[in-house]
Amino acid sequence: MSALNYLTQNELDEFDEVGYLIFPGLLNDDICTRVKADVDQLMVDRENGIKKMMVEYPEMGLVTSEPVIVDRVSDLMGGTQFTHHHIHARWQAPGERGVAWHHDYVQIPQTNRSHLMVHVFMYLDGLNGEVGDLLVMPGTHKRVMNGDAFRQFQFEDLPGSVTVDFLPPGSCIIVHSAVQHARRPKPGGGVYKRYFIDTSYCQEGVLWGSYPNLEAINEKALEMGHDRDGKYAFLYDTSQSFDRLKYIDQLKEANQGSLALKI
Ligand SMILES: [Fe+2]
Repeated sequence: MSALNYLTQNELDEFDEVGYLIFPGLLNDDICTRVKADVDQLMVDRENGIKKMMVEYPEMGLVTSEPVIVDRVSDLMGGTQFTHHHIHARWQAPGERGVAWHHDYVQIPQTNRSHLMVHVFMYLDGLNGEVGDLLVMPGTHKRVMNGDAFRQFQFEDLPGSVTVDFLPPGSCIIVHSAVQHARRPKPGGGVYKRYFIDTSYCQEGVLWGSYPNLEAINEKALEMGHDRDGKYAFLYDTSQSFDRLKYIDQLKEANQGSLALKI
């Protein structure tokens, strides 16, 4: 295992225990301002029916290889290789609906947690409790379960759950993708918009279910220079993934009976 460069051993232990790490104000004002302008443009484009890849927006796409994030993810990966899985981005306004408890660890069927997948939640304008709170259930990454195992609890507080409703601008939370979390809708306050970006990274060594056009996305990311002169080119390698929709029926078919019979 390589030495830690960006995280302390305490942070690593905390991540193993609870499944997430909060970094208040990790992204500086300059990055947040530039990326927010891209998110604004994305929202306008969506209104007008213009569909572009996230990585085609120069500042937003560059976030996929943002060193202050990717270098920390690298420490969590124990120095092993990993790839970029996706970037989602938008802002959320008053009246935004909630998202019920779920996890996002991409595995069909859910059977183990041998390899690490993380999501990075970025709050460019922070959180102020007005539009949506993040709920997380510490430790759930250690218990293998389906993504929707807690769905019936909607956005309720649960015994042991944690509410994150106040963060300064530029805050990032790196979450083990198998941690149960939710977005609790709030009524909104003044003019606050909840700028939200999430990116995701997958450890090498298994095939991860991905979007069907990941290869094209990765090519575009490289073309746009998101690899930062090659330093982060490893993120845009498609060989660690497969089109999950294409194979979902076959995977369900293979998931019958006892694994012991396949030894
Ligand atoms: Fe999620």
